[in-house]
Amino acid sequence: MAKLWGGRFSKNTNELVDAFNASIEFDKRLYHEDIRGSIAHAQMLGKCGIIPAEDVEKIVAGLETILADIEAGNFSFEVALEDIHMNIEARLTERIGVAGARLHTARSRNDQVALDMHMYMKREIVEIGELLLQFEKALLAVAQKHDRTLMPGYTHLQRAQPITFAHHLLAYFNMLQRDFRRLQGVWSGADMMPLGAGAIAGTTFPIDRFDVAEQLNFGSVYANSMDAVSDRDYIIEFLSFASVLMMHMSRLSEEICLWSSTEFGFIELDDAFATGSSMMPQKKNPDIAELVRGKTGRVYGHLQAMLVTAKGLPLTYNKDLQEDKEGFFDAVDTVKFSLAVYSDMISTMTVNVEKMEQAVSKDFSNATDLADYLVRKGLPFRQAHEVVGKCVAYAIHQGKFLPEISLEEYKTFSALFEEDLLEALQPENCVAARTSYGGPAFSENAKQFSRGDVLLAEQ
Ligand code: ARG
Repeated sequence: MAKLWGGRFSKNTNELVDAFNASIEFDKRLYHEDIRGSIAHAQMLGKCGIIPAEDVEKIVAGLETILADIEAGNFSFEVALEDIHMNIEARLTERIGVAGARLHTARSRNDQVALDMHMYMKREIVEIGELLLQFEKALLAVAQKHDRTLMPGYTHLQRAQPITFAHHLLAYFNMLQRDFRRLQGVWSGADMMPLGAGAIAGTTFPIDRFDVAEQLNFGSVYANSMDAVSDRDYIIEFLSFASVLMMHMSRLSEEICLWSSTEFGFIELDDAFATGSSMMPQKKNPDIAELVRGKTGRVYGHLQAMLVTAKGLPLTYNKDLQEDKEGFFDAVDTVKFSLAVYSDMISTMTVNVEKMEQAVSKDFSNATDLADYLVRKGLPFRQAHEVVGKCVAYAIHQGKFLPEISLEEYKTFSALFEEDLLEALQPENCVAARTSYGGPAFSENAKQFSRGDVLLAEQ
């Protein structure tokens, strides 16, 4: 197949070179953006009097039929034509003749691919934003349903203090809110229009880059042609966003794996969101959570790969930059898939309220509350901590929990203990009393819910 750049060459490229050099296998997913971008470019060339109006018409009509063919599965992508840009342009010229050969005036694949990637990213940001919102809503709904479900909160994976399941899930909701903000931040880098930078140094033709930006709904235009063709910050920013989001989802995944173990027994995943074992008939495995946790590593890898690829590159375009695509596309797919499957998995899981409450009652996670009780009776906190520490050691020795120790026994540790200590030990009271801003108290969580609703409405 004749190369669009073949003029100065006297031989065909080696077959392996064709295969190695080609990006069509993965950049064909940019076909929609490539065609829309080319249409905008052609329109602008026409408006600026750079190519004749009849040619613009032919180009636009030709590109529309190519778009329809690709969407109908009637387009064969050729490796010998290297990438999506040349596959489409070659086919266009084949169909409409010389007008097609005018399309690439004042343009290079360097600014063309940058344009395609910016447009594609903008579309994905919108879709990912919607999936993220959907997941936030799902989390908020489960949290709201469990606003009174008590469970132990953990530090060092040791039971620490009583909280509610709602409070725990709201922590993730807050992380996802930050992810949404980060995603919004990615937008401004994606929303810059690179076309018109040419290969590196703009063009001698009287183009109007702002017209192209307006046609394609871009908020701004790259102010330096060399930056425009070599910038990959927006991809690094997207991959950073994706890495942090996946890190949050991976932490939740780890908790879902723990909670659904027999040892915890806090939740049970719906049968539609778990898998079995080919050998052990009793098994119900949290594969989805494990996979999200596993795929997180892959997304981190893409961020690292892009940073390293960009690191030593002299300005401006170098073919190394073609390596920006597979990792980015894979991160997009991974994030979208993970978010979509998680929303449904969370909404359908069964929460074992009793098991959670049992874990918080047969337990010492109310010990801080007993120390706070003594503080309210006038004892300095450090001394209260020491006294309660001794009570805990005594209880463990007796094979009991704190509420099972008699007042008489308590009195041997401090005269300040009275009948009302039992109330202070009730997990429900422990939670209700934690009314500090952002704390787990039912009243505080109610405020967090309404803040969450407002935030969702604003997004
Ligand atoms: N397929 C290339 C890429 O993805 C398009 C740009 C190629 N430019 C060039 N001068 N070889 O980066």
